[in-house]
Amino acid sequence: MNPLYSINDIANIYSPGLLFYKDLIRQNIARTIEIAGDAGRLRPHVKTHKTREIVRMAMDAGILKHKCATLAEAEMLAGCGVTDVLLAYNVVGPNCARMARLARAHPSCCFAVTADHAAAAGALSEALAAEGQSVDVLLDLDVGQHRTGVAPGPEAAALYETIGRLPGLRLGGLHVYDGHNKQESFVERQTAALRALQPVLALRETLEKSGLPVPRLVLGGTPTFPVYAKLDLPGLELSPGTCFLHDHGYAAKFADLAGFTPAAVLLTRVISRPTSTRITIDLGTKAVASDPPAGERCVLLDVPDYIPVLQSEEHFVVETPAADKFNPGDAIFAIPTHICPTCALHQKVYVIEDGRCTETWAVAARDRVLTI
Ligand SMILES: Cc1ncc(COP(=O)(O)O)c(C=O)c1O
Repeated sequence: MNPLYSINDIANIYSPGLLFYKDLIRQNIARTIEIAGDAGRLRPHVKTHKTREIVRMAMDAGILKHKCATLAEAEMLAGCGVTDVLLAYNVVGPNCARMARLARAHPSCCFAVTADHAAAAGALSEALAAEGQSVDVLLDLDVGQHRTGVAPGPEAAALYETIGRLPGLRLGGLHVYDGHNKQESFVERQTAALRALQPVLALRETLEKSGLPVPRLVLGGTPTFPVYAKLDLPGLELSPGTCFLHDHGYAAKFADLAGFTPAAVLLTRVISRPTSTRITIDLGTKAVASDPPAGERCVLLDVPDYIPVLQSEEHFVVETPAADKFNPGDAIFAIPTHICPTCALHQKVYVIEDGRCTETWAVAARDRVLTI
């Protein structure tokens, strides 16, 4: 058993359950700040953990700017007393009026959103104006992921200028997420990230020369924020998310992230030993994210030479030559491969401190709608 994860009162914890190790989270936050160079250069993404308590831990560590992907997360952040919230998601449809209501409900919070289309920005402007509210808008730039955003260039400059003329929208800077930069080698990742940044910096220069403010440059996720952290750019904000909890997916792929420790672990139990070489545990796809391929969704600790066989909603079946060492009810720990969607599968998490479960935290923003 990895001593990092040992628990004395495990019999009191239901499985499947998600365990958050508070000291490890604290250490991961500290390591994130260390890489960033200063807590003020960070704007971590809350979508990984969606919990108020980790937001407060980040605030206690001096991190005052936060990023999110849903209006519920934005509401949770504002409710925690965060005064600088970036909803890094294009706001459309009824979410425009909802954004305006959120801004009205939290007058001491500066809200920002991303946009990459004039019509969407126009609809948001109208909704905000109707409520007498305003938000910052960051132009979402596509530097190669091709998920959202516009390519840095003349079209992007024109759109930024258009946004700046719309009532209720303040020019908030540029947003660049490069989730496609997943090169295992740090040097190769760095080269790709810095190459893609060049047109972004050129765009910023063009905008500023034409008198348009670019107060922020929000860059990167966990694999690339160490690259951008080395730069000295005005308004630079680094936006990793996963590294606060970390997971097996990033730990196995990126050796340079060795300073982070997986702080979220799944507790599962043997529910059956259907054959002499097989055990079945209560860790189906409703407890661990199934976006990694079958068999690669988690790593079981202390199950010798196991081979994943089958996973369904509430069952995970593995073959192991040590099956006879396991009995129904035995606890097994698993490190999830992708922690962000795994968190969203759990209504609450068990918080472990000094080998004991001290409290539970609600994964509050797994709900799509809180109050607004
Ligand atoms: C827009 C945006 N910013 C930041 C992040 C954080 O990236 P990571 O999970 O690699 O820390 C993500 C992750 O999906 C994202 O979509």
